Amino acid sequence: MAKILITSGPTRQYLDPVRYLSNASSGRMGAALAEAALRLGHEVVIVSGPVSIQYPSAAKVVPVITTDEMLLASRTWFARCDGAIGAAAPCDYMPRFVETQKIAKTGEPLTLQLVETPDVVATLGQMKTDRQWVVGFALETEDRRFRAIVKLEKKLCDMIVSNGPTAIDSDENDVELLDASGVAVAHVKGTKQQVADVLLAEIDDRLIRKTASIR
Ligand code: C5P
Repeated sequence: MAKILITSGPTRQYLDPVRYLSNASSGRMGAALAEAALRLGHEVVIVSGPVSIQYPSAAKVVPVITTDEMLLASRTWFARCDGAIGAAAPCDYMPRFVETQKIAKTGEPLTLQLVETPDVVATLGQMKTDRQWVVGFALETEDRRFRAIVKLEKKLCDMIVSNGPTAIDSDENDVELLDASGVAVAHVKGTKQQVADVLLAEIDDRLIRKTASIR
């Protein structure tokens, strides 16, 4: 049995007390992965941005809002886990300045200055010991395999799941799982639960049993 951290859902970056940047991630892929991991007898901690779906009640859920909060919670929980799956869609940018009062309309264009947020999966990739593993997701509109391999290497992942934009806020997904050397080891199309079940079976086989055997 392994203890698995799953990041899930979107994050929000506030511009002022009422407005924020975010994306349409629903958390459904994270929930399906959690369900699949629990079915295999693993323990699951989900660090999740704001979502309206329900996560499996047997999983521990750590709610966060911003990418910085997701990073902090993920670092803390990863230290107590065997591996992590980055299924979240954290905001990649945040406003350079957050207004303390609601930004008033002036009739003029408004220019926002955005700065990059930290990368949660890349941080876990740097943090991991040789007994831990990290699986990332790569959502690409073109050159899917190539771009996924670049992210796999850059974020120091042990495997990466390549999917397309139709995955966002959908019940279905169509993914390719790439191993550490960029070889496609599985191609799965179906509901997110069917996809998650295959991904977890592969992760179980290729990463969890392998790291358990070097203990
Ligand atoms: O670079 P990109 O956002 O496409 O990478 C996707 C992978 O990186 C996903 O696993 C996602 O959860 C993770 N990610 C992250 N922190 C960010 C951006 C992406 O963990 N700030």
